[in-house]
Amino acid sequence: MKLAIGNDHVAVDMKKEIKEYLESKGIEVVDVGTNSTERFNYPVSGYKVAKMVAGNEVDAGVLICGTGVGISLAANKVRGIRACVCSDPYTARLSKQHNNTNIIAFGARVIGIETAKMIVDEWLNAKYEGGRHQNRIDMIKEIEETQHLKAAEE
Ligand code: RB5
Repeated sequence: MKLAIGNDHVAVDMKKEIKEYLESKGIEVVDVGTNSTERFNYPVSGYKVAKMVAGNEVDAGVLICGTGVGISLAANKVRGIRACVCSDPYTARLSKQHNNTNIIAFGARVIGIETAKMIVDEWLNAKYEGGRHQNRIDMIKEIEETQHLKAAEE
């Protein structure tokens, strides 16, 4: 498995720890930065990771900023990205099982490192369940591609 990881200046330490944690499990990790605590605009790393995921250069992505909100919003603007910001392992697991998320995001100012590790473990171990969930993901894709949703007219 190969993942991309990105962050802003607030999340450098947590990113390094999560990267090492993933590598200790034999996962290849591409770090798009930043590795500096100088102020850094989170859309840059959110976009870089999202493009790598959408282009199938990596299997999935991990994004960390102060809250996980801004960086996941940026990633979700890239076509084909389903990024989930979460603070608990349950949401992380369900986001894969039901929503087939391809990026997980969290906040270095919100959760501690042990919760962050649990989140990535639950998320990476979960499997998308397909079935009834696929129709809903197709609807999200329809909104993304057409800025319209036929089902909302009914
Ligand atoms: C940076 O101050 C902060 O706004 C950023 O890390 C993140 O929380 C944005 O959503």
